[in-house]
Amino acid sequence: MDNPAFKVHGFSDSEALTKRIARLIRAPWAEVQEHSFPDGESLVRVATPPGVCAILVRSFPNPDSKLIETVLAIDALRRAGSRRVVLVAPYLPYMRQDKVFRAGEPISQRVIAELLGHNLSRLITINPHLHRTHSLGDVFRCAATSLSAAPAIAGWVTRNARPDYVIGPDEESGVLVKAVAQMAKAKWAAGKKHRSGDRTVHIEFPRLTIAKPSVLLVDDIASSGATLAVAARTLSASGARIIGAAVVHPIFERGAISRMRQAGIRTVVSCDTIVHPTNAIEIAPLIARALKVRK
Ligand code: R5P
Repeated sequence: MDNPAFKVHGFSDSEALTKRIARLIRAPWAEVQEHSFPDGESLVRVATPPGVCAILVRSFPNPDSKLIETVLAIDALRRAGSRRVVLVAPYLPYMRQDKVFRAGEPISQRVIAELLGHNLSRLITINPHLHRTHSLGDVFRCAATSLSAAPAIAGWVTRNARPDYVIGPDEESGVLVKAVAQMAKAKWAAGKKHRSGDRTVHIEFPRLTIAKPSVLLVDDIASSGATLAVAARTLSASGARIIGAAVVHPIFERGAISRMRQAGIRTVVSCDTIVHPTNAIEIAPLIARALKVRK
């Protein structure tokens, strides 16, 4: 039976994901209408009546203008009568700037958490990039649920790849990579990365115990693709056979996929946290399960 208390509200750029989540939790869905004024300001309009519990699905490629639309939509849902507003942001942007790296910079993670979280009942996201911050609860003032895409990626690996090793490019990828490897019954390792520019990284890997292993690279985010390209080149130079790369959040810039292909990564797959041609791993079931557990 459909659940009349819930309504899933979504923006046009994530309509397919919004509809899938609505279908899985047996709730109606409605599009959030967007308008851009000549001076670039945004206006949004939510379908009324909204859900008593409104679930707002927001995908965040090119996040800046989308952040503004999202906080406006949360306010609109509250004003139209939603008693609970749950934001489903499969990819949560701005989590990487979690400290002042160079004098004069902000801690973007805290600013964005405050902006998004102050009027929310709950946030649900997938593999947020948390490095020095241990949990989302440290920066969000609403309830926050962080889901892991590891079971979904491991399912894809088991059906399609069967590598000797699942390898992550840096220490932050260790938890995800270990979980995927254990579920897919593969060995795992993580590198040590040093970044000296947006597209310049150097990575060292521990010695692998299998000679000439087949390797699947796994990371939470791929943006320029430089990290995975350097990982592939470094591992290939030591004899590994790179069979592909799987990423949770495909925030690929233009040219990222060819950068990775030139480094020998022929198969690139991603979770559909952001719409991209590499999407091969569905995250709607994971989100639907989390929505059924009230927090
Ligand atoms: C950062 O440590 C993340 O886990 C990714 O490794 C990073 O964002 C990838 O960025 P890019 O593809 O631009 O190298």
